[in-house]
Amino acid sequence: MRVTVIGSGYVGLVSGACFADFGHQVACIDSDERKIEALNKAIVPIYEPGLDELVERNLSAGRLTFSTELAPAVREADVVMIAVGTPSRRGNGHADLTFVMEAARQIAGALEGFTVVVNKSTVPVGAGDDVERVMRETNPDADLAVASNPEFLREGSAIDDFKRPDRIVVGVEDPRARAAMEALYRPLYLNVAPLVFTDRRSAELIKYASNAFLATKITFINEIADLCEKVGANVQEVARGIGLDNRIGPKFLHAGPGFGGSCFPKDTRALALTAQEYGSPVRIVETVIAVNEARRDALAGRVIAACGGSVAGKRIGLLGLAFKPNTDDMREAPALALVPALEAAGAVVSAYDPEATEQARSHLPNVIYAGHAYEALDGAHALVLLTEWDQFRALDLARVRQLLREPIVVDLRNVYAREEMQRHGFVYHGIGRPRG
Ligand code: UDX
Repeated sequence: MRVTVIGSGYVGLVSGACFADFGHQVACIDSDERKIEALNKAIVPIYEPGLDELVERNLSAGRLTFSTELAPAVREADVVMIAVGTPSRRGNGHADLTFVMEAARQIAGALEGFTVVVNKSTVPVGAGDDVERVMRETNPDADLAVASNPEFLREGSAIDDFKRPDRIVVGVEDPRARAAMEALYRPLYLNVAPLVFTDRRSAELIKYASNAFLATKITFINEIADLCEKVGANVQEVARGIGLDNRIGPKFLHAGPGFGGSCFPKDTRALALTAQEYGSPVRIVETVIAVNEARRDALAGRVIAACGGSVAGKRIGLLGLAFKPNTDDMREAPALALVPALEAAGAVVSAYDPEATEQARSHLPNVIYAGHAYEALDGAHALVLLTEWDQFRALDLARVRQLLREPIVVDLRNVYAREEMQRHGFVYHGIGRPRG
């Protein structure tokens, strides 16, 4: 099959490279000339484990091409995927569809023969209808069908998520388009994933409802963690105990600093707004948003309390800046709330992140960026673990103890065992776990 992907950002690039790896002929299009130039040399602009290799392999096999020229690639395609960004519109939380609609217009002007246009970007319910309307206005003779095929991949494990998804959701009403989507995903659903066909609006809502549900699950366990601290229970035990109930499930029950990233904050806000506009508010999601924001605003307070009530003149050694491990993404990262608040309270923050330092610099200019974990901790009054990169799990604790000026550890991801930390002489503060 010939697939053209418009937008070579996160979703577009991962999807395009994976479809090519399954043997489809894929053209990835982006208006950013420098990005396309780099991709043609197999230089991948984002950090995602395995993506470099995947791009390189399929580029040299000739199954994957990169170009700024939309029209020729659309003309030849059986399926065109729109995978451009849908940022939050400034001033309100709605998804900005400017890029999606512009792509739709350009595709409509270029397509030839029956073409399935697939929305992969996260778009509000009804956006598929708008895309179809715009395309038919632009090119009344076009033979096309618009499908919604939301993407559920997670940063850091995007390739595995794409190749081994729990399900593939396709919202489409046209039988020819359904057949094309079946052919596109055949390499996947034959062995692994159920292909769920539904109507377009339901597919669009499935994406938002999934993300909002997961964000709710995280927020729920975070509040239970706070309660655990008060009543002397252990949130990890509680999460294990409830997660073994199949109806609840064990995943997304790790208490922490609150969810961040490019999807959950944006998508929960967009869903809450859409629901309000339709006069059917999802109050539980509105609450999740507010609770999560308050949690992030309170992070510095946790650190300050652990440091005996003041961080003025103290140095805080921060491990991890990205919103989660295996990514360099700083979007809505808890660090963006924690670091300025600590600085405002008089602290100096020295930080190390294996990948996100460059991204962090412009947001957090006053941080002292270290070249490795131990350097960040050298002379610090406290260790604060914010992102659970694997390499922080097995630190040489005796060395850390020597480097720290005071033996305070604030573990915002619960990666360390209290007993071990105490054995090394640390005063240890986890999330939702009884104090020693
Ligand atoms: C998410 C969805 O998982 C994915 O399906 C969707 O397509 C995009 O949004 P992503 O943002 O890449 O993916 O990361 P994810 O691993 O889901 O984590 C999101 C946030 O929740 C992170 O800030 C993470 O630290 C936090 N989280 C996750 C927790 O605090 N606890 C958990 O148990 C799980």
